[in-house]
Amino acid sequence: MDVTLSINQKKYDFNIEPRVTLLDALRETLGLVGTKKGCDHGQCGACTVLVEGQRVYSCLALAVMQQGKEITTIEGLGTEDNLHPVQQAFIENDGFQCGYCTPGQICATVALLEELKQGTPSAVTPELESQVSITDISEGEIKERLSGNLCRCSAYNGIVAAVQQVLGQTPPSPLAEVRVNE
Ligand code: FES
Ligand code: FES
Repeated sequence: MDVTLSINQKKYDFNIEPRVTLLDALRETLGLVGTKKGCDHGQCGACTVLVEGQRVYSCLALAVMQQGKEITTIEGLGTEDNLHPVQQAFIENDGFQCGYCTPGQICATVALLEELKQGTPSAVTPELESQVSITDISEGEIKERLSGNLCRCSAYNGIVAAVQQVLGQTPPSPLAEVRVNE
């Protein structure tokens, strides 16, 4: 099928089989390899991208169904000289080790921020009726909202700290200072 996808505000025309996932179209057809393939089964979140601002597992989405929608991948969030605030926060808080899950974690965090601004509840939101200030979101709530993104390096403490930073909270200091006894 002929498809036109709008990715990171650029239009891409190409021809693919209808069974091709958005993830494979991004990586194999368009060379946008920032989006990672982990499980390819909707279990790890490594392939998370934004479609119309909402987080989507691109391994579970068919590319041909994304026509007319704006897709944002990690390549569209910032540049080397001008990082997205979420990217900067991940660096400042050691929110990664090998980095394989990181593009998905960052895209999920960008969507998470928008969901919080819109008052979208999670499974652990204590009061569905009351508006909770973004800066008061608990650590448990952050973990629940990012529970669809796994990190095999277990960099979770840094990831949560990065999210706390972009929420305007004071994250715990990233690393305890190592003192060497002389
Ligand atoms: S690669 Fe898509 S959820 Fe794991
Ligand atoms: S940083 Fe290695 S999988 Fe998350």
